[in-house]
Amino acid sequence: MNIATNHIPDRVTDTQSVILTGDRTTEPLHLGHYAGSLRNRVALQHSHRQYLLLADGQAMTDNAATPEKVASNVLEVALDYLAVGIDPELTTIAVQSSLPALAELTMLYMNHVTVSRLERNPTIKTEIQQRGFERDVPAGFLCYPVSQAADITAFKASLVPVGEDQAPMIEQTNEIVRRLNRLAGEPLLPEARALIPAVGRLPSIDGISKMSKSAGNAIPLSASPDEIRNAVRRMYTDPDHLTVSDPGKVEGNVVFTYLDAFSDDPGTVSDLKARYRRGGLGDMQVKNHLEEILQTLIWPIRERRARLADDPGEVMRMLRDGTDRARKVTQETLDDVRAALGLFHWT
Ligand code: TRP
Repeated sequence: MNIATNHIPDRVTDTQSVILTGDRTTEPLHLGHYAGSLRNRVALQHSHRQYLLLADGQAMTDNAATPEKVASNVLEVALDYLAVGIDPELTTIAVQSSLPALAELTMLYMNHVTVSRLERNPTIKTEIQQRGFERDVPAGFLCYPVSQAADITAFKASLVPVGEDQAPMIEQTNEIVRRLNRLAGEPLLPEARALIPAVGRLPSIDGISKMSKSAGNAIPLSASPDEIRNAVRRMYTDPDHLTVSDPGKVEGNVVFTYLDAFSDDPGTVSDLKARYRRGGLGDMQVKNHLEEILQTLIWPIRERRARLADDPGEVMRMLRDGTDRARKVTQETLDDVRAALGLFHWT
């Protein structure tokens, strides 16, 4: 079984391009992250220079009242990365808030973005609504696309593997890049391209709400066998599929969406779909099949994660090392940008 390589996007042989992506450190990662981006990153690290940011600074933009939660999840997300097969020899993992050049670039870029442009960013717009901020949106939150532009450009990244919802961030980044390049009169920073996986966003267990561990509707990468079993049992199916012999609906049926995302045997999946549609296939049977796939997928991740969690000192060493390397790269970019724009320098 090789799930990771089933979903490699195009241009994996382009060894020159730099990849930068990251995750907010608000809670441990779940299967949605795995399907949406983690397995791509595991594959891409062999063919690209890849940087992963533990985005604790960005996480603070809507978790300012609980900084200790954001801080403690830095290690949790790092463990998730390592557990799924991110190799620190191939991928540089860095802590965002320990890279001061990112904050300085953010300050600089902020002058090249208007408030109305930020308010028009579709993802920001939705997120402001979801969080009920209205006019009381924290300034840091409204501006997080600018800090994300700093993240991406500081590493001179041209590829950004993210979920669909992050595409507007890349668009905004490129607007900033074009403005700065024009101002500098040279191709100072590269434009970036979003790498969005073919499989859409994975739905939550209940099929409606946004997936999150705290809401109890996501399967964390460290889920125990019982947690996996219970989550699959609770998965939303076709509510009109009352008896085994009834014809059932596959569209919007979370169990089938997960099968599409995680089975490495599309023949069997389309077979099951046909039987389900026709009638004569029970929810329990499909769920048992999915459960087996998820148990097989998650157990090595869980085991590896538990082993790594036993030695947090070792993980910290790896993080310190990656952050040191990233600090150099990002400082160099900041120096380039300051020089190209002709900002003050000491003589
Ligand atoms: N905004 C991303 C998320 O919410 C996390 C992130 C922070 C990121 N910095 C980034 C993603 C830079 C890509 C590139 O998941």
